[in-house]
Order: sequence, then structure tokens, then C-alpha cells
Amino acid sequence: MSAAADKARRRVRRAPHVFCTWQGEGRLVQSPRRASGVPASPLVMDVLDQLGAWTDVDRLARTVDLPPPVLDIVLEGLSAHGLIETEGDRVTVDDGRPEATPWHGWSPAAYLFHLATRDVTFARRDSAEPDSRTPRPPAELPPLGTFDIALPPPGLADASLRATLRDRRTHRRFAPGPIPIEALGTLLGITFGVQAWAHAGEGPLALKTSPSGGARHSLEAYVWVRRVDQVAPGLYHYRPGPHALTRLDDRTEPGSVTSWLPAQPGYEDAAVVVVLSSELARVAWRYRSARAYRVVLIECGHLAQTFCLVATALGLAPFCTAALADTVIEGDLGLDGRMQPAMYVVGAGRVVPGAWQPHAGQPAPPLEITELGRALADRVTRRSNGPRPRRRRASGR
Ligand SMILES: Cc1cc2nc3c(=O)[nH]c(=O)nc-3n(C[C@H](O)[C@H](O)[C@H](O)COP(=O)(O)O)c2cc1C
Repeated sequence: MSAAADKARRRVRRAPHVFCTWQGEGRLVQSPRRASGVPASPLVMDVLDQLGAWTDVDRLARTVDLPPPVLDIVLEGLSAHGLIETEGDRVTVDDGRPEATPWHGWSPAAYLFHLATRDVTFARRDSAEPDSRTPRPPAELPPLGTFDIALPPPGLADASLRATLRDRRTHRRFAPGPIPIEALGTLLGITFGVQAWAHAGEGPLALKTSPSGGARHSLEAYVWVRRVDQVAPGLYHYRPGPHALTRLDDRTEPGSVTSWLPAQPGYEDAAVVVVLSSELARVAWRYRSARAYRVVLIECGHLAQTFCLVATALGLAPFCTAALADTVIEGDLGLDGRMQPAMYVVGAGRVVPGAWQPHAGQPAPPLEITELGRALADRVTRRSNGPRPRRRRASGR
């Protein structure tokens, strides 16, 4: 069969969740996965209107009354912008409809944002390269007024808390060997375990070491045990009430950590990898606003920080990463990506002895410890004598 006949016979459809905005003078149609779109001309809209289902290209040419070579150019442009899909190609956007899912009660913008940030290709160089066209934004804001009040140095009496806060670093290489089961129990129990049940009118509400909007605690911990004494390697779900791990029947470990965390080979030696997945229905049952999704994202940060601090206190090397292969992780764990999306990954392993070195093969950047940093390192807690007097800065902003 000729290439031209192949082209005519192929089937295309509109990519799911394509949306339209009004910008300046005109309309723009785009995919949630792309930063740019194409002008929503009558021709583009006509073609997209016809493509609600898989459609033969030759039939489409007749319907929109375009010569096939011209239609090919239009389709190439739409495909390059992620606006149409060709049958047989890898589908990159979840095509499930948000109806009958927790997203339905929130603004469509929440779902579009969620889709826009899924399965990002972190391996692509340009996705994480600094923008060379503009200067780097300053790391600190300039003074926003004329006066400063110099604050007393931090004085945290609890030396072990001080040391834990000071020593937490993100590790991306780990010493070989297992961590004790007790360490795993401590990590999971303190971070995700239920510390108390509050008996509210709606039913029992879990209280944990982290806060949670409306005490929904939608984030579940799925644990990939890799090297833990007395626990067989495999995929587990942590049950926060009884403080137990349930082995996920019929689920097999992926071949490598990089299939979950692309382009991050350093995590291969981690002892444990924990996926935070949100049971969105728990949140949507109470909150019918897109802000509920923001709350879920914020809660990921609370739990991850607790996990990293507990790991540090245990003398382990923690990490957290947002560079996930969402769809692969959800598939491996048997999660429904629309109802129970993978949101964030944390993990821990054994510390490599010697100075902290975030990346294998690269020296650690030189650190200049600040006054505040030194205060955490101080053995003696300094007493506060109250705020120092205001100082007028020599020059204003
Ligand atoms: C939300 C979030 C996402 C992150 N994603 C990644 C990531 O994709 N890859 C990675 O190597 N580190 C990731 N990190 C770790 C940061 O790179 C790290 O926190 C930062 O370099 C500061 O170093 P520190 O954690 O040792 O203070 C992430 C951290 C946060 C809070």
C-alpha cells in the first residue's frame, strides 16, 4: 500500500480535554499538556468539531471539504500541538471523562491543571534548563520598607530537634544494605499513622502528626519495600489505623526505580520508596471547590517534610521528588489515576559515610552557613533578651 493511501486510511480524533481561551483579539485552542496553542480559526474549529470519535482521514477530508494535501498540513499542525491523536500512537492524556469522579464538583480548571502536570518528561533537557533569555530572579526580596527590627537568634531548647532540622538534606545516593524494620515502622507510623480518632458528628476523623484540611487526610502511603530487614521486597499499602503493611496481591515490583522516577538513577539504592496517592473522593465529599485540590497539594508537603525529618532523626538519608511517571506508578500499584492519583514520592536509604554529597560523581556545592544556620548548630540555646532596637537603614529601598 502506498504512503498516501496509508495517510488517508489512518484514523484521528480530538485529544481529550482540549480547551479554548480568548486572548487579546482572538481565540486560542490548546491542549492542557502544552504551553502554547493555535488560533481557533473557523477551519481549525470545524476540523476539531468533527473529531469527537476516531475518524478516517479521507472521510474527514470530504466532510470539511478540503483537498487531502491541505488537510494533511492542518492535521500535522494540530498533532504538533497535541490537539489530535492518531490511532495506534501512544495516548499521552488520560481520556477518561471527569464526570462521576471527584473532579466533577470542582472547576474544570483544576482537572486541566492536574492533567497539565502529569507524566512530565523530566528526561527532556529543556524542561529543567534555566531560562537563558532572562536574568535569574533574586533569591531574596529587597527590603520592602525603611526599618528592620533585628530579631533574637532562634533559641530552640530541644537539641535533638535542632539537630534534626539542621541535618535534613535531600540525598540522591545511598549506602548498600537494608534498613531495620523498626526504622520503617517509625517512618510510616509517625508520618502517616493515626495518632488519635476524633469522634465528630460525621464519623471518626483521623488525627495525625501533620495537619489536614477538614481532617480529610486523603493521602495514602503505598510502600515499595526494597531493602528492609524482615520484610520481603515488594509493593505494599500502609494501613494508618492498625499501623500495618498490606502486601498488594498480584502486583509486581517494577524492574527499576527509574521506571517510576525517570532520569533519577540515584534513587536505585534507596531502601524504601513511598508514593503519596490522594483518595480524592474523601476531599470532594466535603469540599466542592477547586481549592480543595490545592489543599491536597499542600498536604503532600506537610507529610513529606515529616517523613524527611523522621528519617533524618533515625540517621537515614531521605529524599522527596516530584519527577514522577504518574501513569506508570498508578498502573503498577493498581490505582485509578482519576480517583487516586499519585501525587508525590518520598523515600529513604542508608547514609553514605562522609560528607553529604547530593549527586553521585559531583562534589557538593560549597556551603556558607548563615547566622541562622549557626544558631541551629549551637550547643547552648541562646537566651532571648527581647527584640533589638529598630535600626534605620542608611538608604531606603
Ligand atoms: C516539591 C519538591 C519537589 C522536588 N523534586 C525533586 C526532583 O524532582 N528531583 C530531585 O532530585 N529533587 C527534588 N526535590 C528536592 C530538591 O531538589 C531539594 O530540596 C533542594 O535541592 C534543596 O536541597 P535540600 O533538600 O537538601 O535542602 C524536590 C523538593 C521538593 C520540595
